[in-house]
Amino acid sequence: MQDKTVLITGGNSGIGKEAAIAIAKQGATVVIACRNEISAQQAVEDIKNASGNTKVAFIKLDLASLQSVRNAAKQFKQQYKRLDVLLNNAGGAWATKQFSVDGFEYSFATNHLGHFLLTNLLLDMLKQAPEGRIVNVSSEVHRMTRFDFEQQINPASYNQWKTYGFTKLCNVLFTYHLANKLSGTNVTVNAVHPGVVNTNFMKKLPGMLKTAASVAGSLFFLTPQKGAAPLVQLCTDPKLKGVTGKYFNRHKQAKSGQDSYNTQFQELLWQKSEQMADLKDNG
Ligand SMILES: NC(=O)c1ccc[n+]([C@@H]2O[C@H](COP(=O)([O-])OP(=O)(O)OC[C@H]3O[C@@H](n4cnc5c(N)ncnc54)[C@H](OP(=O)(O)O)[C@@H]3O)[C@@H](O)[C@H]2O)c1
Repeated sequence: MQDKTVLITGGNSGIGKEAAIAIAKQGATVVIACRNEISAQQAVEDIKNASGNTKVAFIKLDLASLQSVRNAAKQFKQQYKRLDVLLNNAGGAWATKQFSVDGFEYSFATNHLGHFLLTNLLLDMLKQAPEGRIVNVSSEVHRMTRFDFEQQINPASYNQWKTYGFTKLCNVLFTYHLANKLSGTNVTVNAVHPGVVNTNFMKKLPGMLKTAASVAGSLFFLTPQKGAAPLVQLCTDPKLKGVTGKYFNRHKQAKSGQDSYNTQFQELLWQKSEQMADLKDNG
């Protein structure tokens, strides 16, 4: 990975931070894209210390703001000559219904729409790389929800896990549609479930669930390092060269949920995302 540049969203914590350390250990230039500057600066120092690689930096990115995504893409293009790997890792499940600054349901905005725009704005750079890779971090929870765009995009009664599952289904639908669009190029795109991992994700659960998760987490869940391993493999393993449009349950290629293969859903999500992110006009 010596000459390669890797951009990781949410590399300041959990799985993303461990992926950043492992990829930095392989010699790549690693840029973490984070919304909190203080936490990001600390993470940059931690990643440098843990990897022994000084080519680590951060750019500011709030995925729940389309303007912030545009600024981040612009800044990245100004500061870096190449982009070999984009690891779309940041995400979460929020206990209460809330909205992004652009007025979209918050977890959809963060987990899907921000990454959709970021990826599209950086595609030209990835196409210039000898072997561009995009890795979208989804979840097995994507199987919990059917794809009903109008209902899920602004649910009348909010259910944290249904909404989260919908956004993670969007990650897989986006992966498959983008893989088709990129066929014939040197850029691959895959989606991955990292496993059930003991990270800050579990600490954001409400009330009793948080307590249960913190007990179960330390006993049964994977460490962030183990959770990061399949992401690192997809970002770096030469054996995966040319593999695209696939879903991985940790290290194994797997069949994803039924709705993810529906090409009408893939097309609808793409069109709606383009409109919401104002991509055609300003992209
Ligand atoms: N943990 C699991 O068991 C599990 C299972 C399946 C899938 N996943 C997926 O794995 C990915 C990483 O999660 P994790 O477990 O490592 O949780 P985590 O420790 O909570 O990390 C989530 C990361 O996303 C960032 N983030 C959240 N909202 C953001 C926004 N609006 N803009 C920019 N960054 C934002 C967070 O930044 P802050 O530090 O600023 O909040 C943090 O860096 C997520 O996509 C999650 O859905 C996790």
